[in-house]
Amino acid sequence: MKAKPFVKWVGGKTQLIDQLEALLPADFDQWENVTYIEPFVGGGAMLFHMLQTHSNIKSAIINDINPDLTTCYRVVRDNPSDLVDSLQKIQEEYYSLENEEIRKDFYLRKREEFNTKTLDSIRNTTLFFFLNRTCFNGLYRVNKAGLFNVPFGRYETPMICDPNTIYADSELLQNVEILTGDYQQTLERAKGKTLFYFDPPYRPLNNTSSFNDYTKEAFNDLAQRRLKEFCDKVEAAGYKFIFNPEKQI
Ligand SMILES: C[S@@+](CC[C@H](N)C(=O)[O-])C[C@H]1O[C@@H](n2cnc3c(N)ncnc32)[C@H](O)[C@@H]1O
Repeated sequence: MKAKPFVKWVGGKTQLIDQLEALLPADFDQWENVTYIEPFVGGGAMLFHMLQTHSNIKSAIINDINPDLTTCYRVVRDNPSDLVDSLQKIQEEYYSLENEEIRKDFYLRKREEFNTKTLDSIRNTTLFFFLNRTCFNGLYRVNKAGLFNVPFGRYETPMICDPNTIYADSELLQNVEILTGDYQQTLERAKGKTLFYFDPPYRPLNNTSSFNDYTKEAFNDLAQRRLKEFCDKVEAAGYKFIFNPEKQI
């Protein structure tokens, strides 16, 4: 079973893997003991690809500012069977609901529970998966108060529990260090031959555009400049980085 992203993520890069491979340094496969760092990991399409195709990666560090997402990575890595049990239960419950109105009501109650921000990591991750599969288009969007606010998605039998993917991902994540917070903290984890892969949020199309609101702070022009300065530091320290084809700087 191939490891792959366990969440649907806006801006997911599964379709761009071949183009991203082409951006790797030409001698990448000759590098030894590589450290791979993904400071904006999101759904991790490139992470799962890299770890399965480049055996010279000896250490990997991933980071995201979204603590609910990084908790999912930790639970998948450390407690896959508890997670599978819990997802199986919520899936059975959801499939047994009689009609769309009842499913919508169930969805809204789970969203409210998730937004209490008081849950243990298994429950939080269970609801994160549940909302990801049952909300409109698998979006992740928060309001100004940081609360998840995506509407119901009207799917009758979405795949909420996918044990094969969870177990395959868990195995692959065993040696991956998972950080939560701003991308800048990843530089101190670099050592020796290190490759960074940056996939930051898109620049907002305008001040009110909300499609990239992964967080309550928009990734605005100031944030883009701060990232450029960070890339300069990465380069000055002797490390390499790649960006998405559409975000080359
Ligand atoms: C375009 S998405 C990454 C998508 C990912 N490459 C994939 O394949 O799913 C950008 C990610 O950056 C995260 N993010 C936003 N601001 C951040 C910051 N200051 N530091 C770290 N992560 C941040 C968001 O939570 C989001 O998951």
